[in-house]
Amino acid sequence: MAPMAVALILGWWLVAASRAQQLPRPSLSLHPSQGVSLANNVTLRCRLPQPAAWVRLYRYQNATYIEQKDNVQDMAEFSLTSIKQEDAVRYQCQYQGLEPAGISGKSDPVKLVMTDHRYPPPGISLSPEEYVGIGTNVTIRCWNNISGVVFFLHKEGHSAPVQRQKLSAGGTATFTLFGVTTDDSGTYRCSYRITGCCLLFSPLGDNVTLEVIPRPAIPGDNGGPSRNLVAVVVGRWVAAIVFIIILTVSFLLVAQRRRMQTDERPGATPSSPEAMQFQVSPGDSEGLTYAQLQAATSSTHPRGSSTTPEPPIIYAEVGTRGPR
Ligand SMILES: *[C@@H]1O[C@H](CO)[C@@H](O)[C@H](O)[C@H]1NC(C)=O
Ligand SMILES: *[C@@H]1O[C@H](CO)[C@@H](O)[C@H](O)[C@H]1NC(C)=O
Ligand SMILES: *[C@@H]1O[C@H](CO)[C@@H](O)[C@H](O)[C@H]1NC(C)=O
Ligand SMILES: *[C@@H]1O[C@H](CO)[C@@H](O)[C@H](O)[C@H]1NC(C)=O
Ligand SMILES: *[C@@H]1O[C@H](CO)[C@@H](O)[C@H](O)[C@H]1NC(C)=O
Repeated sequence: MAPMAVALILGWWLVAASRAQQLPRPSLSLHPSQGVSLANNVTLRCRLPQPAAWVRLYRYQNATYIEQKDNVQDMAEFSLTSIKQEDAVRYQCQYQGLEPAGISGKSDPVKLVMTDHRYPPPGISLSPEEYVGIGTNVTIRCWNNISGVVFFLHKEGHSAPVQRQKLSAGGTATFTLFGVTTDDSGTYRCSYRITGCCLLFSPLGDNVTLEVIPRPAIPGDNGGPSRNLVAVVVGRWVAAIVFIIILTVSFLLVAQRRRMQTDERPGATPSSPEAMQFQVSPGDSEGLTYAQLQAATSSTHPRGSSTTPEPPIIYAEVGTRGPR
C-alpha cells in the first residue's frame, strides 16, 4: 500500500513539474492566408502570451528551425520572400519564456497553400442545373486531364478554401450535396491538388451557381416528377369529361322515357302543342335538354289544367330559348 501511495505522489509531482515548465502555446497566422502564388512574399506572425527570450519558426515535423527572433515582446514576424514550391508546407512556432522561464509547446500548424498557375484549371458541371427544390440531391462534377489528384470544392463567401474533397476516379470527382437546403445556394468552383512534395493547387476553375428554391421537390428521380404531375392532371380532366358525358346521357335517357310516357298518354296526340315544340327544338343538346325538362314538368300537371290555354304560352317561350 505504501509503495503505491509513494508512486502516486511522485507521479502527481512529475506531472505538476512538467506543467509548470510547459508554457502556454503561441499562435501562428499567415498573411495573406489565401490566393498565394509562386514567387509571392508572405508573412508568418507568431503571437505570444508573454515576453520571450527567443521565438523560432519551424516546418511541421522538422526539428531544425528555419529562423529565430530574439527578445520578443508579444509578436514575432517572419517573412518568406519570393516563395518556391518547397515553401508550400505547414509551419509552427515556439518560444522560450523569460518570466516564468521555460519552453512553450509548438503552435497549431498553419498551411501555406500555393496556387500553381502552370496547371490548367479544372472543368465543372452541376446537375440538376441552377434552380432546384429543397431536399434534392445535387451533384457537382469536377474534372481535369491529370489522373490521380485530389479535387476540392470551394464555395464563394467561405473563408476556408476547401469545402469538401474526394479522391478522383478517372480524372473526375463527384461531389453530392444530399437533400439541399437554401443554405446550399451559392457559387461553387473546383480546384485540384497537384501531387508531389507540397501544398500545391491548380487555379480555381469556372463557377457554377446553385439556387435552392424554398419548395420541396416531388419525390422521385429527375424527370419523373413532372411526368407524374402531367399524368395526374390529365387523369383528372378525363374523369371530369367522363362524368359530364354520363350526366348528359342520363338526362337524355330520363327525358326519352318521359317523352315515351307522354306519347302513351291517351289524351295526348302527336298534333298536340307539346309534340310540335319538340319537333321545333334544334339539334343543340343544351336547348333540347331544357325543352324536355319543361315537357317533363308539363306531364306532372293535373289533368284538368292541361286543357287550359296557359301551357302553349309556356312552350312557346321554351322554343325561343332553344336555339341559344
Ligand atoms: C518581395 O520582397 C522583396 C524583398 O523585400 C521585394 O524586393 C519584392 O518586390 C517583393 N515582391 C512582391 C511581389 O511584393
Ligand atoms: C528540415 O528543415 C531544414 C531547414 O529548413 C531543411 O534543411 C531540412 O531538409 C528539413 N528536413 C526535412 C526532413 O524536411
Ligand atoms: C438522395 O440520396 C440518398 C442517398 O443515396 C437517397 O436515400 C435519397 O432517396 C435521395 N433523395 C432524393 C430526393 O433523390
Ligand atoms: C482536356 O483535354 C482535352 C483535349 O485534350 C481538352 O479539350 C479539354 O479542354 C481538357 N480539359 C481540361 C479540364 O483541361
Ligand atoms: C461566374 O462566371 C461567369 C462567367 O464565367 C461570370 O460572368 C460571373 O461573374 C461569375 N460569377 C461569380 C459569382 O464569380
